[in-house]
Amino acid sequence: MLPRHVAIIMDGNGRWAKKNALSVAFGHRKGVEALREIIRYSSDIGIEVLSLFAFSTENWNRSKQEVNALMQLILEYFNSEIDELNENNVRIRILGDIFGLPQNQRETVQASMDTTADNTGMQLNIALNYGGKDEILGAVKTISKHVLENKISVDDIDETMFEKYLYTAGQPSVDLLIRTSGEMRISNFMLYQCAYAEMLFPKTLWPDYTVEDYKGDLQAFSKRERRFGGRKS
Ligand code: IPE
Ligand code: IPE
Ligand code: MG
Repeated sequence: MLPRHVAIIMDGNGRWAKKNALSVAFGHRKGVEALREIIRYSSDIGIEVLSLFAFSTENWNRSKQEVNALMQLILEYFNSEIDELNENNVRIRILGDIFGLPQNQRETVQASMDTTADNTGMQLNIALNYGGKDEILGAVKTISKHVLENKISVDDIDETMFEKYLYTAGQPSVDLLIRTSGEMRISNFMLYQCAYAEMLFPKTLWPDYTVEDYKGDLQAFSKRERRFGGRKS
């Protein structure tokens, strides 16, 4: 079975650069190339939702030079890809606090969401300035406000309602989480949505991750037995 929602932590650009004696910025650039292929393939085979971790709330802790290079790449990426994504009927949603992004980046990503808002193909979530804890706390704050304003009552708060306050409102939860580079941690990505995700940690560094690797991971997913707390009879 194909997962409805695939989430990917694209990790290993820095190590890839080091291994190839290239700059970190170049590593990130190679990472974008890998991402293009994975997006195209996912859309072709009918993945409903693809979520990609591009920049975390913690990634601001990197050097100014690296953060600038990443911000520059974000601009370049959206400007160069938006037409093709739109032609392929892909709908873009940014997960994360876009108000924490520089103005240029914020306007560009907002425009990409507006342009593709009515598309009906694959939902592409790009996590930028995203943190899972930040997302959950944001939901709690908004819900609290709505309770105080008598818009909702405390008794109405259940999973269905809570999920409407997340960046992923209206989307199915994550079925498959892939993190490249061999690191086995979540690093604050989609904490709520991954509650029952199957996880795969391929050793490949993200710039080297190919559609063939991805096919293998989707195949591995299809062999997993998902129980959701139950017992297979
Ligand atoms: C992941 O690659 C991309 C981002 C965090 C933006 P890294 O830059 O974290 O690569 P490593 O972990 O240093 O190899
Ligand atoms: C997670 O990778 C963030 C992205 C891939 C964008 P990191 O490389 O930032 O995570 P840690 O620091 O190794 O946990
Ligand atoms: Mg990393």
